[in-house]
Amino acid sequence: MTAGKQVRIGVIGARGRGTIAKYWHQPEGRSIVVGAADLYPERLLEFKEDINPDAFVTTDYRELIARDDIDAIAVTSPDFCHEEHAIAALKAGKHVFCEKPLAITVAGCDNILKAWKESGKHLMVGFNMRYMNMYRTMKEIVDSGAIGEIKAVWVRHFVGWGGYFYFHDWHANSKNSTGLLLQKGSHDIDIIHWITGRYATKVSAFGGLDFYGGDKPNDLTCPKCEERDTCTEVSPGRLIECAFRQEVNVEDNNMVIMELEGGIKASYLQCHFTPDYQRNYTFIGTEGRLENNELENKVYVYTRRSNTERELADRVYEVKEAKGTHGGADPIICKDFVDMILDGKEPVATPLAGRMSVAVGCAATESIRKGGGVVTVSSIPNLAASAMRNG
Ligand SMILES: NC(=O)c1ccc[n+]([C@@H]2O[C@H](COP(=O)([O-])OP(=O)(O)OC[C@H]3O[C@@H](n4cnc5c(N)ncnc54)[C@H](O)[C@@H]3O)[C@@H](O)[C@H]2O)c1
Repeated sequence: MTAGKQVRIGVIGARGRGTIAKYWHQPEGRSIVVGAADLYPERLLEFKEDINPDAFVTTDYRELIARDDIDAIAVTSPDFCHEEHAIAALKAGKHVFCEKPLAITVAGCDNILKAWKESGKHLMVGFNMRYMNMYRTMKEIVDSGAIGEIKAVWVRHFVGWGGYFYFHDWHANSKNSTGLLLQKGSHDIDIIHWITGRYATKVSAFGGLDFYGGDKPNDLTCPKCEERDTCTEVSPGRLIECAFRQEVNVEDNNMVIMELEGGIKASYLQCHFTPDYQRNYTFIGTEGRLENNELENKVYVYTRRSNTERELADRVYEVKEAKGTHGGADPIICKDFVDMILDGKEPVATPLAGRMSVAVGCAATESIRKGGGVVTVSSIPNLAASAMRNG
């Protein structure tokens, strides 16, 4: 198994998100990608061409995790597969990197956490926003005390391109994703948890399917559609299922309010049919407020009267660009996974955080679908709760 110097990695879900394998494939370095499983042989061929021509590939993921020459598995398959794939890999004695959301139900997450604890192996979640310069900068400002004690968080998420990424394939059916508050929003709910250092305890939410969905046949695809020359949502890429098909049943317009531990009030607004793509975060504390602007790559800090020297200046942070996908976060999260295995380093993206963002997303989705009432967030599982409080 782990030789001590190099981690041998296999990927379940070879394309799409599985392309982060390129950051792990460093034959002369601390990790190497030696295998992949995918349902589609052509994607496995692409994987070999793109990542490692000598990789073992299979359409049956069980063959991949059974291999003795693999130390760790990256689960980059769709959300509804995570529970099965992550648990099987842990039970086979592999370390696991599991993409977000950890699973599509709270029970699914808890099953993964149980398998993790029983395995004695390492597990981490693909929360790459925790590794983006923008959000690391905001966390550092809050931790410095510059805005005092946080009392309110407002997050607006403009998911331009939402129609493309979330309504042209499996994401748009709740049986595959539960809803887009877990799917897409799990990142943002996690950033709210991470930067405040508090988990949400109860939520109330409103939402609806206000733009996508409709009465088109489920098997209609954009290339075959008679309206492809006039449809505003015609697919620009490889995801081609009609965004107005009957089976689409996840909300495209969501508004969640939450109360966090310690009484912090937070809101998360997510809309999938905006023209622009950006996330706008505001944290308000007893001594000031910070706000990011993703389009300018800046964070603004406004201070208020506090009888400390902190009130003497407002500040503007220019966030540095970083190389690599997702604002430079993907190479760093991949490195963190390897450092965790080889050096025992505590990862920034922890399994418990993965579970708690799913718990909030599920509670909010339940609130929406039951008319907007308050829903209590499923609390941290008893299973080694103290050991897992930060992990
Ligand atoms: N952290 C991030 O920034 C980020 C970004 C994109 C996607 N993701 C996550 O990555 C996961 C994959 O998303 P995607 O958009 O790449 O999905 P996708 O539909 O493109 O699937 C990824 C790969 O998994 C394969 N696959 C599908 N079902 C499989 C199965 N049963 N067994 C093995 N392989 C299977 C597909 O053929 C594909 O090659 C999702 O959970 C998503 O939330 C995370």
